[in-house]
Amino acid sequence: MPQHSTVTLAVDRAAPDPAAIAEAAAVLRGGGLVAFPTETVYGLGGAALDPAAVAAIFAAKGRPATDPVIVHLAAADDLPLVAASIPTAAAALARAFWPGPLTLIVPRRDVVPAAVTAGLPSVAVRVPAHPVALALLRAAGTPVAAPSANRFSRPSPTTAAHVLAELDGKVDVVLDAGATDVGVESTIVDCTVEPPVIRRAGGITREQIAAVLPEIAMVTTNGSAAHAQLAPGQLLRHYAPSAPVTVYAGEADAVVRRIAAEARTQAASGHRVGVLAPDEVLTALAPALAAAATHGRIAVAALGRRAAPDEAARRLFAALRSLEADRVDVILATGPEGAGLGAAVWDRLRRAAEGRVIQA
Ligand code: TXA
Ligand code: MG
Repeated sequence: MPQHSTVTLAVDRAAPDPAAIAEAAAVLRGGGLVAFPTETVYGLGGAALDPAAVAAIFAAKGRPATDPVIVHLAAADDLPLVAASIPTAAAALARAFWPGPLTLIVPRRDVVPAAVTAGLPSVAVRVPAHPVALALLRAAGTPVAAPSANRFSRPSPTTAAHVLAELDGKVDVVLDAGATDVGVESTIVDCTVEPPVIRRAGGITREQIAAVLPEIAMVTTNGSAAHAQLAPGQLLRHYAPSAPVTVYAGEADAVVRRIAAEARTQAASGHRVGVLAPDEVLTALAPALAAAATHGRIAVAALGRRAAPDEAARRLFAALRSLEADRVDVILATGPEGAGLGAAVWDRLRRAAEGRVIQA
């Protein structure tokens, strides 16, 4: 894998500097790697039809070859470049939600290198809504394969600093346009099965998709190895910070009691404790955490109001990284209400916890 210096180019998200975009596009056309902002998270891009560039993406991330990557297009009209056919449901969803945080799985054309799709006969495609991503895709003039720009199994990056923390020296250019908008990845809908199924909760909610496709189903993964083969990339260990995470679900008062008790126990045994929760939960926990802090160190990260899951989505990955930077030994977490983007937030929390979910 090339080890060299990474160039960071600051770009205005509303009016991306054409010179910076042209420089990054030339790197992509030359087979290099460019990390760029999308409306969801930062992506690690390489020319999708160039097997060597695709191999470089997997090497930089330390990603297993069994985990396929998403191909990004400048416009829905480009779908025939990578799709062998366009299922009716895919056409309807593309019309409704592109550009936007929705990925569609469609039959793959042979020009798409097998490495992109991990050998599957299908390919995952999306048209992102971020002005910088769109400018880059147009200038590159090629489909761009881009997983999230983090090392394998780590939290996804929502800022350029998160990208550099893990990929400095492994990527040629980082386009820095500040924090991303949505904060969790795109929703993935498999349109190669009938009826189509949601394979990953994300930036477009199930309710939004059902308004276009009433027959849509939701896949609930258990993260087992057998299941992972049917739904690649849906491994339970994902988005994991360095400290083990435990998630508490259930009625708010009961969650507060369980987290308070666990924080006290952990602090008393000399551990640094991180607490990740909506504002109201942190307020209710404040006296218990202050008491626990007399024994050990407590760090908190706020997800915003319980009733604002979109705010929790925006903050989630940065919050996990901030607790990591506080060098906590354990993270006790709970989420916002489950409606709308709440489903995607709970899915990421559950995976960050590798399935350690306690019903309070
Ligand atoms: O928002 C996003 O989707 C971000 C930005 C950068 O666009 N990208 C992203 O990519 O989250 P990544 O690689 O972290 O997740 C891609 C996931 C894979 O792990 C896998 O679950 C699924 O997409 N996937 C890709 N191709 C597939 C295929 N042919 N069949 C089934 N699942 C596929
Ligand atoms: Mg990822």
